[in-house]
Amino acid sequence: MCGIVGYAGCDKAGPVLFDTLKRLEYRGYDSAGVAIISDGDLLVLKAAGRIADLEKSYLRGGSLGSSTGIGHTRWATHGPPTTENAHPHVSGDVAVVHNGIIQNYLELKEDLLRRGFVFRSDTDTEVLAHLIGSFYMGDLEEAVRSAVCRVEGSYAIAALARGSSRLVCARNESPLVIGIGKGANYVASDVSALLPYTRDIVRMNDGEIAVIDHERVVLRDLSGILLPLDLERVDWDVEAAERAGYPHFMLKEIHEQPRSVQETIATRVSEMDGDVRIDIGLTVDEIRALERVSIVACGTSYHAAVLAKYLYPKAAGLPVDVEVASEFQHHLLRPGTLLLSITQSGETADTLSAMKRASTFGVKRIAISNVVGSTVTRMVDETIYTRCGPEIGVAATKTFTGQLVSLILLGIKLGRGKNHLSYENSRKMLVELTRLPGQIQEVLERRDQIREIAEKYANSDRYFFIGRDYLYPIALEGALKMKEISYISAEGYPGGELKHGPLALITEGTPVVALATFGKKIQANIKEVRARGADVIAFASEGDPDISKIANTVVELPVARPVLSSVLCTVALQLLAYYTADARGLPIDKPRNLAKSVTVE
Ligand code: G6P
Repeated sequence: MCGIVGYAGCDKAGPVLFDTLKRLEYRGYDSAGVAIISDGDLLVLKAAGRIADLEKSYLRGGSLGSSTGIGHTRWATHGPPTTENAHPHVSGDVAVVHNGIIQNYLELKEDLLRRGFVFRSDTDTEVLAHLIGSFYMGDLEEAVRSAVCRVEGSYAIAALARGSSRLVCARNESPLVIGIGKGANYVASDVSALLPYTRDIVRMNDGEIAVIDHERVVLRDLSGILLPLDLERVDWDVEAAERAGYPHFMLKEIHEQPRSVQETIATRVSEMDGDVRIDIGLTVDEIRALERVSIVACGTSYHAAVLAKYLYPKAAGLPVDVEVASEFQHHLLRPGTLLLSITQSGETADTLSAMKRASTFGVKRIAISNVVGSTVTRMVDETIYTRCGPEIGVAATKTFTGQLVSLILLGIKLGRGKNHLSYENSRKMLVELTRLPGQIQEVLERRDQIREIAEKYANSDRYFFIGRDYLYPIALEGALKMKEISYISAEGYPGGELKHGPLALITEGTPVVALATFGKKIQANIKEVRARGADVIAFASEGDPDISKIANTVVELPVARPVLSSVLCTVALQLLAYYTADARGLPIDKPRNLAKSVTVE
């Protein structure tokens, strides 16, 4: 976890560091710090708490410092979120910020202690700082190289030394991007932090070390061999990475879904051919020979994966198993399996380690991800990008619907490839898919009704979400959204499952959200919970004659085929969670204890 930034330019480093750090706050926000060269000396400012508070004390101190600096926003792993544990960590003339985990830190620490180094924090990063400090004899690049050669684990590092105007960065299994500007160069954990400054970036690869000053970026491998700069121009704009007038990123990102889903579909749907144009790295024969799809993912991405469990047997005749990535270690993959990882960030440590393990089975590996060039995309044979643009709110919204739509596209591709899905059915589905962005817009227009419901139940202790078939994963996701941002205990269940235990928790007025856009069986489940005193909020298709007779409240959604109604229900449940958290006055974009990108196992 954590976000790191660095600046080497001609302006004062402080304002740039604080601005870029704030853009990375979604990666962790329990403490922050900066180190800036000031009159040849090292000025280090760090504190537990938010970046904005740290910035205030920087401004109160007279905005000191020159035009070279590094910064960090932390999500605690080694040691609690205290000022001592905040980065940068200093050893002699060197200051270091780090994202990742040093696995052999204990043995390194013992050695450094024996050699007289004094530790002030509980962090593995301080070990790294002292290690670099122990090698530093005036050449920071060499010191970083010597240190990382002794380190096991993951790291993205930025370091600077007293008296120098250069940054030295290194990467292994944690993201790091260099931004190339005019008279200034930058470094950050994520492109979105750099967008106001430059769109020209170089993504560092594992085992690379970069030396950066205001004029030049020099990239070398661990043995010192010079590497070419693989320059990339990012087309995300600054606007996209900012709130655009919405009170929270989450609400903005919910409202972006008509466009983001349109982007996910764009250029990939050929209604005339009744087929999908995506490259999945498999030949026609390889698709025909597929026997199974296995999916690994975490959190919201896992819920998206569950949709495929229902869709792919029907659409492509393929059985699907879905595993939470952190529980993948005993899974066996047979030949003929397509392994799919779903990860919006492309950096989730559990998902990456499952994919690494899967490489031993020799099966084809593909990914669905939102972040071009992220680590997962470099591990797999092919990536289907969700094309949602940057998502800043910790609670995933537009990337989830992007994943659902990508899974539907992949299902159609596999179904056609295996001759399981007829041209006619596929064509019909694709035509309906192209209507989805407009239908999402219609759901967004129901926001006032959904807000009223949210406000009515905002003080409830618990919520239940039920759904069947394609709507079961959406019930899971609806419950997750509710609990992560509103802190109300919420559970998602298959409609038929409440009577096997959870029904004991239903009392007078317990809100139960029933996803009922299709199927009759869910109506029986609604009656079961009503009979026990629950208040049922049903999300149903427009014009449904039955639901209003059995539910307390009905929100009507546009009529869509079952698999597509999963996307419409999702948007409605995102709004329900959002307005509930808003009514409770909670920090919606940064829920407590959570971070957007979890780069630890
Ligand atoms: C974190 C985020 C979730 C996300 C999960 C998986 O827990 O808070 O919103 O679903 O990681 O992230 P990924 O980037 O792999 O989809």
